Amino acid sequence: MQKVLELLKNDLAAVENQFREDLASDVVLIRKVGEYVLGSGGKRVRPMLLLLSARLAGYQGEKHIGLASVVEFIHTATLLHDDVVDGASLRRGNASANSVWGNEASVLVGDFLFAKSFSIMVRDGNLAILKVLSDATTMMAEGEVQQLISTCDLDLDEEQYISVVRNKTAVLMAAACQCGAILAGIDSDRELALREVGMELGIAFQFMDDALDYVADQKEFGKRRGQDLAEGKMTLPLIHALRQATAEERLRVEQIVELDELDDAHIDEVVALIDRYDGIGYTRRRAAELVASAKRRLEIFPPSREREALCILADYVVGRTM
Ligand code: IPE
Ligand code: IPE
Ligand code: MG
Ligand code: MG
Repeated sequence: MQKVLELLKNDLAAVENQFREDLASDVVLIRKVGEYVLGSGGKRVRPMLLLLSARLAGYQGEKHIGLASVVEFIHTATLLHDDVVDGASLRRGNASANSVWGNEASVLVGDFLFAKSFSIMVRDGNLAILKVLSDATTMMAEGEVQQLISTCDLDLDEEQYISVVRNKTAVLMAAACQCGAILAGIDSDRELALREVGMELGIAFQFMDDALDYVADQKEFGKRRGQDLAEGKMTLPLIHALRQATAEERLRVEQIVELDELDDAHIDEVVALIDRYDGIGYTRRRAAELVASAKRRLEIFPPSREREALCILADYVVGRTM
């Protein structure tokens, strides 16, 4: 990843400055919460996708900086809301905003970031981009609601799970890549190819997030181990294990996900079940397939530093530990 960060060093620094500017508000709490989350060290994957896609597609201007900031704003808004919905207390290795300032402040500052993202886009005046990003945020909200209604549903199958993942996570990465293409004004075949690259990487990204939720080192990952299980969230490692589990094992999982409080022993028990049926290995393999497909799609572009960087970023999606 060092190579990617090196290539994007100036652009990413400009994006960070743009955040600060766009966070301006006379309401002190908005600045405080906004700076807390935006300054807490996210990986900036979505801005990187947008910046690299724009340059890969031949864009020469500077509008990609503002847009990269917008996609991170949208992402940050969803994280603020997501941690409230998930009741999560840890984010990026720190106390989540909702545990510092409460649910109300997190929801409202999330709303501010969403609203602000749209006013920045309107200021920019590109309707095609506005459409892609507003469709993406609509689908993200749909994904979160789809997920909510499938809480504790042990019958959720892989296809339904993927539909949630596409909406809640992948569409924003797809939109980031597509916006880069739109800025550059390339033909629609290549624009849609870049969108699909973002979609596949986004799905793979969430698959890995769901695997890491069970097996990551909590310190490094920065989020609580077993959070998804505690929330009754059915994700691919468990879905795969449940497909093969005995009736008895399934019943046990049902009892555990219904509990109000989970301790480490419960999580270990479910991790053992997932291991028995290779749930993590399966999830990793599915993610690796998507990443390989995304990299193949990039071959329609001639070799360049940006294409290479996107491939490195793609490999990072499956190799990451945080
Ligand atoms: C977290 O996204 C939400 C998911 C889609 C899994 P990231 O892992 O990109 O979060 P940060 O911004 O790097 O913390
Ligand atoms: C990603 O789902 C949700 C968003 C896209 C905001 P998760 O609930 O798995 O994300 P984390 O694990 O809290 O980052
Ligand atoms: Mg969450
Ligand atoms: Mg997660």
